[in-house]
Amino acid sequence: MSSLSNKVVIISGASSGIGHALAMVAISRGAKVGVCARNLDKLKVAFTSITEDKIYLHQADVSKEEDCQAFINGVLSKWGKIDVLVNNAGISMRALFEDADLKVIRELMNINFWGTVYCTKYALPSIRQNNGVIVGVSSIAGYRGLPGRTGYSASKFAMQGFLEALRTELLHTGTHVMWVSPGFTASNIRNVARNANGNIQGETPLEEDKLMSAEECAKIILDGVEQRKRTIIMTGQGKLTVWVNKLFSGLADKLVFKHFLKEPGSPLLKYHPQQKI
Ligand SMILES: NC(=O)c1ccc[n+]([C@@H]2O[C@H](COP(=O)([O-])OP(=O)(O)OC[C@H]3O[C@@H](n4cnc5c(N)ncnc54)[C@H](OP(=O)(O)O)[C@@H]3O)[C@@H](O)[C@H]2O)c1
Repeated sequence: MSSLSNKVVIISGASSGIGHALAMVAISRGAKVGVCARNLDKLKVAFTSITEDKIYLHQADVSKEEDCQAFINGVLSKWGKIDVLVNNAGISMRALFEDADLKVIRELMNINFWGTVYCTKYALPSIRQNNGVIVGVSSIAGYRGLPGRTGYSASKFAMQGFLEALRTELLHTGTHVMWVSPGFTASNIRNVARNANGNIQGETPLEEDKLMSAEECAKIILDGVEQRKRTIIMTGQGKLTVWVNKLFSGLADKLVFKHFLKEPGSPLLKYHPQQKI
């Protein structure tokens, strides 16, 4: 039997992609699941097949402290406890820093970093009582800054620093803190990534159907939660990037630059137009 059986697992940003898959896999392992996202109709459609005793849906924008508090309180009113919090809600960007409106960086920090801080703050008392687990869905961008994603990288570095400090505070208390770094995973994140003006870019530079599926990613995350892993870097490419960056950071600059220059429509082409492919 899964150790998630009869546990209360809550997930931010679960109307699509990895968050939705996490909720479905957690339910299949016997958990009761509380989820939030900004669009309640989308959430309702996403979980239409799940009965009310298994799911709690809540409309919340995690960049708003009061929404996060209301989400946690809603879960506690329904089930009286929280065992696992997965801070998953997140958005991305694609623009050079010199072109990006500062509101883009602010929005990324507000959702990806502050959303994690708010949900963790309000869920922590119950998670502590239950010797539970706090998870951050980070990225390789939390270990290695990526060009065209300054705000995204900053938000994931901040998330990891916050969680690492919290893990150390909570060492020997029975509460576990971890983060996971998926590789490129099929989802909506690139379609809704912000451009320089803060608008949705409306396309993906990747072939989404060739990426890891959100379901596979969710299974790896929940296996990690059950085993109380410290961190998970999910792909060979991710592991190599983190390793090269640690040991040969100058080389990592060049390799990462080259990789992102080749991306269709790369913002880096502004500085290197002769490289157009
Ligand atoms: N997919 C990848 O390749 C990849 C790789 C590494 C890390 N990640 C991380 O994985 C996490 C999930 O991303 P995904 O790829 O599954 O993207 P996704 O398909 O775009 O899903 C994002 C989810 O977050 C919700 N959300 C966005 N802003 C929110 C806000 N302010 N408040 C509450 N909910 C919000 C969205 O719903 P609403 O818009 O309705 O709010 C949606 O349910 C993110 O933290 C991302 O950084 C993804």
